[in-house]
Amino acid sequence: LGCGIVGGGVAELLLRDRTRIEALTGVRYNLKGIAVRSVDKRRDIHDVPHDLFTSNAGALVADPDVDLVIECIGGRDAAGELVERALESRKHVVSANKELLATDGPRLFALAASGGVTLQYEAAVAAAIPIVRVLAESLAGDEVREVAGILNGTTNFILSSMHDGKSYAEALAQAQELGFAESDPTNDVDGIDSSHKLAILCQLAFRSAVTSPRIARRGITNVSVADIERAQRLNCAVKLLGVARYDNGELSAEIAPVFVPELHPFARAQGAENCVRVVGRSSGPLTFYGQGAGRFPSASAVIGDIVAAMRTIAGGRTTARHHHAKLHAAGVIKPAYDAFEKVRSEGSSYPVWREPTASATDDRPAVNA
Ligand code: HSE
Repeated sequence: LGCGIVGGGVAELLLRDRTRIEALTGVRYNLKGIAVRSVDKRRDIHDVPHDLFTSNAGALVADPDVDLVIECIGGRDAAGELVERALESRKHVVSANKELLATDGPRLFALAASGGVTLQYEAAVAAAIPIVRVLAESLAGDEVREVAGILNGTTNFILSSMHDGKSYAEALAQAQELGFAESDPTNDVDGIDSSHKLAILCQLAFRSAVTSPRIARRGITNVSVADIERAQRLNCAVKLLGVARYDNGELSAEIAPVFVPELHPFARAQGAENCVRVVGRSSGPLTFYGQGAGRFPSASAVIGDIVAAMRTIAGGRTTARHHHAKLHAAGVIKPAYDAFEKVRSEGSSYPVWREPTASATDDRPAVNA
């Protein structure tokens, strides 16, 4: 459902990577259709046959051949109704819709549970960073005390650009062009998008039915060049942070621009990167970085959820997960640092670390958008 920035990336990957995904899941699949508002709109996507497009989303969801509905429309109303219908008809759902989950999540999870189907939403928070699964599964046995971080790529892109001397308006226009911003960027700059993501993180971390309207928030529209300069004089960076703490049975949560010391992990997130830090009682602090917006970083998370849902559909059958990895016999694995030979620093026998090149990823360079 939907073929915008995220939906378009998901459709491309589902078609391009079919063989690999089928081998991973043991499920053979067909992309039955892509529901859009306008079938004939020109779209910036590749190798997606035009006859897959339909303007009848309701019929696609109701199609008895459809086992899995992938919702990439966004917003509450139309998307919410379709997700609800899918769950009521006992279809698994993968959704990238933070607003829907942050406002109606608890009700939708109950609906999914009563129908015995799954509702997965890794892409709803911090795009490519797998923080939903970390909180839902890896840290499920721990007591999470705090979740905090940069949860919106657009505002981080704008603030990073302002630190580099660009104007707010110029940076916002560029973020829109790069596909980071929401269709209405007010949601980004006013902290609304971050509050949705923080609500979802609270639901996961504290098992609490927190919804986004209950979270206090301030966005970045009032952050001035003078504020940025003041922060720089204090060796700080201005970052839009979402912070939620659970202390003595009391939950506090807020979205606000904050002066972060330059050496703190949050200050290192540049461009559309997000950074999420979780503090578990036993785990201690854990920090996650990565692209928090954009077509393929978001589609990567959606495809991960699709693989999980397909494995459920296959009855939890364990398939040969390493089928496609190029496994080499021990002893013939090329030493990784060979590649860095040329950058050995003068007079030292140690190689120098280098980031992977942009061609290693589908979309943009690994670090800066
Ligand atoms: N507009 C959102 C952001 C997209 O900039 O983070 C990813 O949720």
